[in-house]
Amino acid sequence: MSRITEDTKKKIMDLAKDAGGILLHAQEIEKTVEEKSGRANFVTAYDKKVQAFLFESLKEILPQAVLIGEEEETHAALPKGLAFIVDPIDGTTNFMKGYCVSAISIGLLEDGEPLFGVVYNPYLGELFHAARGEGAFCNGKPIHVSPHRLGDGIVIFGTAPYNEELSKLSFRYAYEMFTRSLDVRRSGSSAIDVCNVACGRAELFFELLLSPWDYAASSLILTEAGGVITGPAGEKLIYDSKMGVIAGNAQAHKIFVDLWQERGGA
Ligand code: IPD
Ligand code: CA
Ligand code: CA
Repeated sequence: MSRITEDTKKKIMDLAKDAGGILLHAQEIEKTVEEKSGRANFVTAYDKKVQAFLFESLKEILPQAVLIGEEEETHAALPKGLAFIVDPIDGTTNFMKGYCVSAISIGLLEDGEPLFGVVYNPYLGELFHAARGEGAFCNGKPIHVSPHRLGDGIVIFGTAPYNEELSKLSFRYAYEMFTRSLDVRRSGSSAIDVCNVACGRAELFFELLLSPWDYAASSLILTEAGGVITGPAGEKLIYDSKMGVIAGNAQAHKIFVDLWQERGGA
């Protein structure tokens, strides 16, 4: 039995949908773009607006939970007890460009472990959610990772775009996975990517560096859909610092992790 009520879950899911409306109605986005530190890293007024909107309601929904969001100046340490980890817009570069692949991501953790997660893609009207021990769903229908082997599968990768030092390694592994699969994809929203693995549209996702708000919600959706998600060497995911993320069905995940270990991460 989950420790959060059906009513609370519904409120969080409805909130993600409402936040999605802000993305759909955004205007003159490019005029509001500011640069952040790192390569090709931007924030728009809408990232900030959506985060403020989410924080205001999440505070009311679960007043005891600590709020952590990508667009804060400083991030609270991950506490014992309840914490929301929020990415107001996952896929900001896509959003700026009108590429229409971005999502709202809300993860709820308890004692540092995911308890509930929601990823909403407003462009497709797809809401993914999972509660620990209760399975994963897309628009209310149960989802599961694909049974297909990597050789019959699609690999999605993220380029760790803000960390230039990882570019060559990312593309080296993309090539390695390309040669072992049908093809590779790169979408620009890691939250959507992991959900696409969770619902069996692709067999594997990897990105060599992500932040906790990128995967706080989608990691639970993936594991509740029967998938495996770890760091590149198979290490347990943590939610209080950045790390690489490998998500897949068990067979595809193992192929990546075995190769990484065999090569010592090179
Ligand atoms: C980014 C997206 C992208 C991934 C980056 C993330 P943001 O999140 O998930 O797909 O490659 O590493 O940082 O910055 O758009 O919220
Ligand atoms: Ca993100
Ligand atoms: Ca973001």
